Amino acid sequence: MSPQSAPHDFSVSSSLVDKRHIIVLGAGKGTRMKASRPKVLHRLGGVPLIAHVLRAAQSLKPATTTVVVGDHAEAIAQALEVSSSIRFVRQSPQLGTAHALLQAEQNLTCEEGSLVVLSGDVPRIRPKTLSRLLKAHEETGATATVLTTVLDRPFGYGRIIRQNGQFAKIVEETDATPAERAIREINSGIYVFDLKPLFRTLRQIPEAGPKKERYLPAVLSLFRRHGLKVETVGTDDPSEVRGINSQTELAEVSIMVRQTKNEELMAVGVTLEDPATTYIDKDVSVGPDTVIHPGVTLEGKTTIGARCELHSGIRIINSTIGNDVTVNNFCVITDSSIETGAQIGPFAHLRPGTVMGEGTKVGNFVELKKTTLGPSSKVNHLSYVGDATIGRSVNVGAGTITCNYDGQSKHKTAIEEHAFIGSGTQLVAPVTIGRGSYVAAGSCVTEDVPPKALAIARAHQENKTGWAEKKDRGD
Ligand code: UD1
Ligand code: MG
Repeated sequence: MSPQSAPHDFSVSSSLVDKRHIIVLGAGKGTRMKASRPKVLHRLGGVPLIAHVLRAAQSLKPATTTVVVGDHAEAIAQALEVSSSIRFVRQSPQLGTAHALLQAEQNLTCEEGSLVVLSGDVPRIRPKTLSRLLKAHEETGATATVLTTVLDRPFGYGRIIRQNGQFAKIVEETDATPAERAIREINSGIYVFDLKPLFRTLRQIPEAGPKKERYLPAVLSLFRRHGLKVETVGTDDPSEVRGINSQTELAEVSIMVRQTKNEELMAVGVTLEDPATTYIDKDVSVGPDTVIHPGVTLEGKTTIGARCELHSGIRIINSTIGNDVTVNNFCVITDSSIETGAQIGPFAHLRPGTVMGEGTKVGNFVELKKTTLGPSSKVNHLSYVGDATIGRSVNVGAGTITCNYDGQSKHKTAIEEHAFIGSGTQLVAPVTIGRGSYVAAGSCVTEDVPPKALAIARAHQENKTGWAEKKDRGD
């Protein structure tokens, strides 16, 4: 995980920081998503929900970070590109949020200090809110501090019940009376606990509901019963504690994440002609003066340089695009690298491993795969070039095909600098076209062509004079 840089000032001593621990609950089945993928691996702005949470968590510079995972532990660990500093704990079966937390007891018994509990399905939490929550917890000396907010539509969340303004308990939607349901202050599912009394109290939580789950909010009532202090901290940005429990909620939060990203890019000088139809993942960067037309999708770890023009209907995935590049309509570019001033499309397909050098051109209906195109070279029309290395200033004519696959293995084609490949040519790999050589149009090249040569590899043409006239006469 790459921790998000967080310029926050935690004006507290380093010994306190050493005692901060984080746990992220991510083991729930996510039944309400109605999907086979574990809920916390659904993507938001191209990043798994739980990775958003962990990035915010890392900004607190915790002494330990534990993630509670369920049946899909391996998939989650893989998706997180895990750094060795994260510990994983498995919860199986999943018997509620308190039960999830209990699974981490072994990892945390010798620790002391504060434990920040985050939900893997509350992805928009901001580092600055977490640091405010933690600071308040440490300053008040509470045993537990809950992050709350006030929602216009609190449906589905645990409600905060107060007595004389003081926190009393949390009531889940399903257990709430009509009067309690009308309460708009909700539990964000984010808490800070004093580690010392936590685990022994968690064990006292009774089973609840038909699934006999143990609910984490119940620990707060127990603390209160034991005379321990429970505090709340509010956030005035309800969107940062939006939980994601259904596909509809995922789509709603995705719109927010996308809008934030668009605004960040526009703030650094990127023109978005239609932000509503522009889909740019969280980790994409775009340089200033780049113009993005409607219906563009930029995914994963894509980087776009300055002064580029990205036309409608293109999709770029995990690729690096230099400055002053034009991508015309309806291109798909995956795991590729495009250098300054290149022009692509319309209707081009750049598959993984494509490198387009400076000033290169790839035109309509061209597919490149694992191919390096040297500076100023062109493949302008209707071609397939795979597993090839093309030098500088090469012209690959219309309809050129590298025959790179013999049914078992892939073979390489090399086209050296300044070569000229006539239209309609097949290059049967492995084969090398020497520097400065020409291949006649319509050739099927099966042998290497030496430098500066002309290769003609096609059947000789025979013209049968008068043939049609004879046919017409019936001779
Ligand atoms: C929970 C809270 C609710 C709060 C809401 C905020 C409980 C009982 N309720 O409800 O008060 O308003 O979050 O979003 O805690 N998980 C596990 N193991 C389990 C069950 C859940 O790890 O056995 C994880 C889930 O993966 C998820 C998080 O805990 O990341 C919350 O679980 P979820 O089922 O989404 O709880 P909510 O119904 O949203
Ligand atoms: Mg939830």
